[in-house]
Amino acid sequence: MKKARFLLLAGLAVLLAACGWQAGAVSGPAEIPMEILGELDEAARRELLDDPKYVALTFDDGPRPDTTGRLLDGLLERGAAATFFVIGQQVQGNEALLQRMEAEGHQIGNHTYSHVRLQTAEKDTVVEEIHKTEVVLQEAVGAGSYWLRPPYGMIGEQRAALVKTPMVYWSVDPQDWKLLDAGKVAAAVMGCVKPGDIVLLHDFYPSSVDAALTIVDQLQAQGYTFVTVEELFRIQGVNPEAGVLYASPSLIRPLT
Ligand code: NI
Repeated sequence: MKKARFLLLAGLAVLLAACGWQAGAVSGPAEIPMEILGELDEAARRELLDDPKYVALTFDDGPRPDTTGRLLDGLLERGAAATFFVIGQQVQGNEALLQRMEAEGHQIGNHTYSHVRLQTAEKDTVVEEIHKTEVVLQEAVGAGSYWLRPPYGMIGEQRAALVKTPMVYWSVDPQDWKLLDAGKVAAAVMGCVKPGDIVLLHDFYPSSVDAALTIVDQLQAQGYTFVTVEELFRIQGVNPEAGVLYASPSLIRPLT
């Protein structure tokens, strides 16, 4: 009995941790005048009233041939887009995976060249880590704006001022790297995900790939559409600024 209660509490703690930072920032449904609604049949009315639901899955620390390749296969099969924050030093030898991401409608972002802690790195190192990754990405898939996800989600105000693209945090973190269990990771996300969320996962782990595909299946069944981070901003009409860290398009994370 005691054990069951402990498990219940532990499960709750995982759920609350996944919902992370300032859960609950949601936008309300659009207002539709009654005179328009009254003219419609039931199906059309429901379609209008049901807000479209979008969510962005993000994958850090790749690419890795086996896991990232399998994830891309699964996303393609399901017609789901995602965002990959790649480590620069892992690009060499994996160019074909990046070209596949690009061709299949995913967004590619910068996760520094060697996964450094930007908050405590020298300013020169910050600039170099970001720049070197941009160069290898440009060589692999061409020119573009490669948004930054700082490793560990941490970057101070002074170092953020050196960043020339928007920065992406997350609003749902199931701690997949710690759980290493597809069922638990999927449950942690399903327990708190809401429209407009940015979900943090790592395509480095086979269990996270399995979890991601389960999440896509379950949320698509609920009417969700999977978009890139960039698309999520565009859909919500938010023009992201360089050097600002976004937990979602409607939520800026303070720099500490
Ligand atoms: Ni990382």
